[in-house]
Amino acid sequence: MTKRVLLIVGGGIAAYKASELVRLLKKAGHSVRCVMTEAAHHFVTPMTLAALSEDKVYTTLWDLKDEAEMGHIQLSRQADLIVVAPATADLLAKMAAGIADDLATTLLLATDTPVHTFPAMNVRMWRHPATSRNIAQLRADGVTVHDPDEGAMACGEYGPGRLPEPTAILAAIEAHFAAPSPASAQSIGRLSGRHILVTAGPTHEPIDPVRYLANRSSGKQGFAIAGALAAFGARVTLVAGPVTLATPAGVDRIDVQTAREMAEMVEKSLPADAAVMVAAVADWRAEAPLDQKIKKAAGGTPTLHLTENPDILVTLATSPHRPRLLIGFAAETEDVIPHATSKRTRKNVDWIVANDVSGPPGQSVMGGDANTVHLVTDTGVESWSRMDKTMVATALAARIADALDA
Ligand code: C5P
Repeated sequence: MTKRVLLIVGGGIAAYKASELVRLLKKAGHSVRCVMTEAAHHFVTPMTLAALSEDKVYTTLWDLKDEAEMGHIQLSRQADLIVVAPATADLLAKMAAGIADDLATTLLLATDTPVHTFPAMNVRMWRHPATSRNIAQLRADGVTVHDPDEGAMACGEYGPGRLPEPTAILAAIEAHFAAPSPASAQSIGRLSGRHILVTAGPTHEPIDPVRYLANRSSGKQGFAIAGALAAFGARVTLVAGPVTLATPAGVDRIDVQTAREMAEMVEKSLPADAAVMVAAVADWRAEAPLDQKIKKAAGGTPTLHLTENPDILVTLATSPHRPRLLIGFAAETEDVIPHATSKRTRKNVDWIVANDVSGPPGQSVMGGDANTVHLVTDTGVESWSRMDKTMVATALAARIADALDA
């Protein structure tokens, strides 16, 4: 579906990536119109953006001919989405304060079109309390602020502040367009008539009546995926481990505690057109859970003997009722993409959605609201920029709809 994107290019070294973003947006069938700040001219030329966007590039508020032909109000009104990439610290500060002293900031203040910003700046500028304040303000104002990537910076430092790769920015833009909001009602019904199975949450493996083995999975990503699939019109069966989340609208939920119960309920819920196995299933369980609480024995520490749980995903992959599209998740703390890629072939699944769950409790993906995922398919790896779990869910639901339609 063709959309009109107004791309505001800020003045930072990452502005060179804007050219590639324009190319990708055009290739994806969207129309792109570019606005550059004064500072952006030092990093990329209007000629490059004009050639790639096949349109005039707008740079100044004081070009009277432009104001007559295409005022700043119309510029933003004629767009389905405004993207600011790279969004410099200065541009974000002006937006947060409502300053309108050039074409870019004036149209940002004058618009009610959704705005997605992709900050890029030196790591110290990113971490400065002023920038954090401005970003919090923008988010409170309803502007979507994507987190920058982490890595080596042009200034020689290392840390968060890099502009995500243009492919990742495109994925975030497509996720916005795919969101089942009134603005993109095309998504509603795309999965009607399909049955999709989703697992989510951790499992609890009892040791005795009061103790169990578990992990930090909150179930948020799986529940968001179940909700997005239902919003796209699918009949969704959600087999959920023990979590404290509300059932998303239109989803049939089956609650379980252990991996073996989850395996049984997944089996019973077949056939399905697709299965998205998001649950962080415990790999092991206590070999012989006790009926009575284990007492603190004088002078002795009990030994816990573990045994392996069934791998639900592998069982499903080899089942005669294997869903046409089988998607696994991979929570990794190192070498995320190589592990996910080998998991895809080893487990005989179609896609693996890999995420990096390293980080201390409370700051990791597990339990948090945002996620950075890599979609590993038979055609390669797509790294999506960091986004809300609900956005990841919508983007994935859109990809599932594409795959089942193919
Ligand atoms: O091998 P690993 O546990 O990392 O694989 C993760 C993927 O496999 C996830 O999709 C998870 O839901 C699924 N899984 C499963 N049953 C298990 C272990 C993992 O379905 N016992």
